[in-house]
Amino acid sequence: MKTIPRIAVFASGSGSNAQRIAEYFAGKGLLKITAVYCNNSGAYVLERAKLLGIPSVVFNRNDFYNSSFVLDDLKSREIDWIVLAGFLWLIPDPILKAYPQKIINIHPALLPAYGGKGMFGMKVHESVIAAGEKQSGITIHHVNELYDEGDIIFQATCKVHTGDTPEMLAAKIHELEYEYFPVVIEKLVCEID
Ligand code: GAR
Repeated sequence: MKTIPRIAVFASGSGSNAQRIAEYFAGKGLLKITAVYCNNSGAYVLERAKLLGIPSVVFNRNDFYNSSFVLDDLKSREIDWIVLAGFLWLIPDPILKAYPQKIINIHPALLPAYGGKGMFGMKVHESVIAAGEKQSGITIHHVNELYDEGDIIFQATCKVHTGDTPEMLAAKIHELEYEYFPVVIEKLVCEID
């Protein structure tokens, strides 16, 4: 009998997307959010994981880049897919190689614009507003060895109005993320696995 796909969610901060994904799939039997991986021991996503009853794995830079700690842990939990939801570090080569086309990320802008190193969270929204853009949006993409440069899977847009603050834009972007990220994960994972 085929077992359901096992998903690892990587997050560095608040983890509202991680929570939304976990709640969306809870009880559906389509896939299992098996663990939350976090590079920041003070991140609120760890509280959320605890409340959701999802195991979490905390690691530091050395664990991630100079040891096989994270990859070994992914293997021991038989993880099939990796979802980056507000995770801010590049994925090291051994993990990329172990999960070809099975690592996806969400970015809070319309890539290829407003991506790259240092472009995350509010920094993105501040830049979009400073440039006078009339629209922004989300991009869900495959992950490769470069920041925000993997193949694009899905985009959705929202309007940027005159007078919008970065916080207002962040709220609109989060709404798009909550609406589409779980659905795109479902489509991808359930169609391919
Ligand atoms: C999300 O908006 C996500 O798109 C962004 O961080 C936020 C995390 O929010 N990711 C990046 O900027 C990656 N470059 P959350 O912790 O509440 O899910």
